[in-house]
Amino acid sequence: MSNEKIIKFHIRRYDPLKDEKPYYRTYDVPVKKGMVVLDALHYIRENLDPSLAWRYSCRMGVCGSCGMLINGSPTLACNTQIFDVSETEITIGPLPNFKIIKDLVPELSSMFEKHTKIMPFIVRDEKELDDPEGEFYLSSEQLEEFLQFTYCIKCGCCMAACPTLATDQNYIGPQPLAQAHRYNKDMRDGGRKNRNEITGSKDGAFKCHYAGECSRVCPKGVDPAKAIQIMKRQLVFDFLKIAKKQKPCEKLMGPGKGEKKNIPPAPPYTVQG
Ligand code: SF4
Ligand code: SF4
Ligand code: FES
Repeated sequence: MSNEKIIKFHIRRYDPLKDEKPYYRTYDVPVKKGMVVLDALHYIRENLDPSLAWRYSCRMGVCGSCGMLINGSPTLACNTQIFDVSETEITIGPLPNFKIIKDLVPELSSMFEKHTKIMPFIVRDEKELDDPEGEFYLSSEQLEEFLQFTYCIKCGCCMAACPTLATDQNYIGPQPLAQAHRYNKDMRDGGRKNRNEITGSKDGAFKCHYAGECSRVCPKGVDPAKAIQIMKRQLVFDFLKIAKKQKPCEKLMGPGKGEKKNIPPAPPYTVQG
């Protein structure tokens, strides 16, 4: 007996070069247990309609390319089991709050431009980068301060779910703000003062209503809403000049000098050079 089911996929289509406005087209797809939404899109393109456009790359929830609106929720097509969503009908559209290039392909550059502005890197003195004198040691506790925020794959699902962004495209939004928080909390970083100019601006963290939708939809378990609330408090402390001084991480001078606590030695080389 076949465990295959025919599921109706209602897919939002829009080609700005020839369509006046978006419309929905329905495709019948034979689905078996274990198939994800991305598999159904491949089936449609290979067997029913080669003109359907979407974006993907890794097929394993890592590259962040396949974010789309699946039955009303922004999520990754490669990470969504079809039978977990529905056994009869599924509606798919592009991520809201972004311009659309074609069909299910959003234009994500508005997010990446904001992400670039918050300086998503460790800011250090340039002299030191040219002439490093040692390595920095982060304790597990110091790492815990920001570790979960490093899991962001920039899929844009949180931006698509944010009600503030839906009404105000100038708002920086949860993805860039969570990444600003990730670097602000890194003991090796010295860029918070500069980032505050952006995160504390009129389009920054204080526009967040704390609806929490961003954290609810994040496929990687990142909690941007939490990052933004901690950031708001820090911005106030910084403004009032009552922020506690961030304890810098320990600096180990010179290669191999100093003792690294709780860090196992590196495994031996597997390939001999
Ligand atoms: S925080 Fe989560 S939902 Fe937002 S871009 Fe990063 S991985 Fe995607
Ligand atoms: S918590 Fe803030 S950033 Fe997240 S969805 Fe709500 S308003 Fe947007
Ligand atoms: S294809 Fe890479 S996250 Fe889905």
